[in-house]
Amino acid sequence: MELPKSGIPKDELFETLRARKVQDANWRAGRTWSLIYPAGEDVDDVLVEANRLYVFENALNPFKFPSLRQMEDEVVAMTASLLHGPAVAGGAITSGGTESILMAVKVARERARVERGITKPELLAPHSAHPAFAKAAHYLGLKHVQIPLRNDFRADVDAARGLITDQTALVVGSAPGYPHGVIDPIEELAGIAEERGVPFHTDACVGGFMLPFLEKLGYKIPLFDFRIPGVSSISADVHKYGYATKGASIITHRSAETMHKHQLFLYEEWPGGLYGSFAMAGARPAAPIAAAWSVMNYLGWDGYLRLSKQAMETTLRLWEGIEAIAGLKIWSNPDATLLAFGSNSLDIMAIGDVMDQRGWHLDRQKNPDALHMMVTPNHEKVIDEFLSDLRFAAENHGESEGKDARYS
Ligand SMILES: Cc1ncc(COP(=O)(O)O)c(C=O)c1O
Repeated sequence: MELPKSGIPKDELFETLRARKVQDANWRAGRTWSLIYPAGEDVDDVLVEANRLYVFENALNPFKFPSLRQMEDEVVAMTASLLHGPAVAGGAITSGGTESILMAVKVARERARVERGITKPELLAPHSAHPAFAKAAHYLGLKHVQIPLRNDFRADVDAARGLITDQTALVVGSAPGYPHGVIDPIEELAGIAEERGVPFHTDACVGGFMLPFLEKLGYKIPLFDFRIPGVSSISADVHKYGYATKGASIITHRSAETMHKHQLFLYEEWPGGLYGSFAMAGARPAAPIAAAWSVMNYLGWDGYLRLSKQAMETTLRLWEGIEAIAGLKIWSNPDATLLAFGSNSLDIMAIGDVMDQRGWHLDRQKNPDALHMMVTPNHEKVIDEFLSDLRFAAENHGESEGKDARYS
């Protein structure tokens, strides 16, 4: 395909875009179970306006756009406070969970080299940890060592103890992990890391903007944050359950000094002057920062408590409804709003195919085979319809079905 010779008129252009978009997943109708976290039309309006106001700015140079610097500082400070960071905690906004994790691993690698003389760094992460850790190890030259899981899908602490070596640069736990929605035994994992003088990272990309509110609502949430002395850094994605539009996560460090020493990249050996940045990207879109700041301030504690309650109650109703269908089972005992369900007697992948035909987008998992759901407040309105289609799928997945006209 080549660039059009003459530009396409605006109306025609957007007509094409709208027509193409029709084939995309209908997340507004609650039909997707990952990727997007809708929080209501009022929140959508706030996000659209924040994006519109900052669509052209560039967050590379905070001196040119002090409003962006102020928003970033405030987002980091609010997040560190949610995670019980000490007064000296620091952090930065990145483009997403993966970039926050890359930064946590990079800081740990530098610390390992400078503080402990480690030359062959190892990253010790649970088998269920997000692939971003494998990616970070691959990009940054660490050996990726996996901690096996216990039967309850949480990292096996005894195994982890045996896998720490003199070269371990970072130990990781998830709060919660993506595949089964369970929180790893962070206190024990961080404890054994601390005993060996190794930093520990909590991946709260999913839980950072959910668990603090569930805890406040009275749900039993094990400690996962800076209240645990061994936790050195935490990633928390405001573009997941923080309900911001995509492109915003926060990497927080127990000590801002550690971040300045090991995360900041400064360079002036070129003609263009001093260049500095805290993460992978050079030029950075401003809109995700504005969206993150706006949604956090718009919702506040009250808004997040309301949405977390709605998401958790929806999860519990789905959990109960799924297990009421003969043959289906939630594999783990999830701590938050993620569910993975499968079966010992039915073909769960064939059930997933029938659900696809009925317009539901469920991700597939293996070991054990499962269909996966990240539940948002937006799913409350589809609980009955989803469970009725799932019951149908569980009873009829042997037969092939045409695409359901209701959702085509
Ligand atoms: C537990 C966990 N960590 C990290 C990530 C990576 O986040 P992102 O997709 O924003 O890079 C995800 C994404 O789903 C996740 O579930």
